[in-house]
Amino acid sequence: MARRSGLFVTFEGGEGAGKSTQIRRLADVLRSRGCDVLVTREPGGSIGAEAVRHVILSGAAEEFGVRMEAILFAAARNDHVEEVIRPALAQNAIVLCDRFMDSSRVYQGVTGNLESDFLDALQRVAIHGLRPDCTIILDLPAAIGLARVRARSEGASLDRFEREELQTHEKRREAFLEIAASDPVRCRIVNAERDEDVIADEVLSIIAPQVEELGLGKRAGVETAG
Ligand code: TYD
Repeated sequence: MARRSGLFVTFEGGEGAGKSTQIRRLADVLRSRGCDVLVTREPGGSIGAEAVRHVILSGAAEEFGVRMEAILFAAARNDHVEEVIRPALAQNAIVLCDRFMDSSRVYQGVTGNLESDFLDALQRVAIHGLRPDCTIILDLPAAIGLARVRARSEGASLDRFEREELQTHEKRREAFLEIAASDPVRCRIVNAERDEDVIADEVLSIIAPQVEELGLGKRAGVETAG
């Protein structure tokens, strides 16, 4: 099929769900099949947004309130979209992004109690019409995800969001599931409690047909298996 632009895939979920591992694995397979893949993350992903990342994750902005944090996330997202994501898609790349707009909806909106009108306005400015083609939500109980994060950090300090209570993380899990239920064409829930290989196969089985449909593999096309 003739096409004009690439494929934009976002990965969402709670802490310790394995997003970065799964993104790396998917990127490796797609590249081995001739695709042009850009791996990126939020907050960050562009020079401007990386500059804001530390301000947010260190907790330096926390005392100024959730509105201030939400605006910073939106500022970072807008820079990332316009400087990195949109240009890559225009070059027919597959963009795999670790967190995007749904994280703001969940972290600032649901557990930050920010009014949805305010968030909607920020979102419009931040993404400027660029919605993900597909969002993979890696789902697992918050207690398991947090235990993984704590084991991984081995004494290193947790970030501003990781430090929050289990109950808050469980609320986020529910909020991601609600987003998926309200937008079932874009969002796919993947059970992240299973073996890494099994999860990787499922993620590939979701993305590969979309890559193929858009004709993004430079070689013979992308198969769904393995
Ligand atoms: P990060 O260290 O990138 O880790 P991970 O994605 O693996 O959890 O931390 C990003 C943190 O920022 C994470 O706790 C979620 C939070 N966040 C928001 O609160 N709002 C947002 O819009 C985004 C993109 C992230």
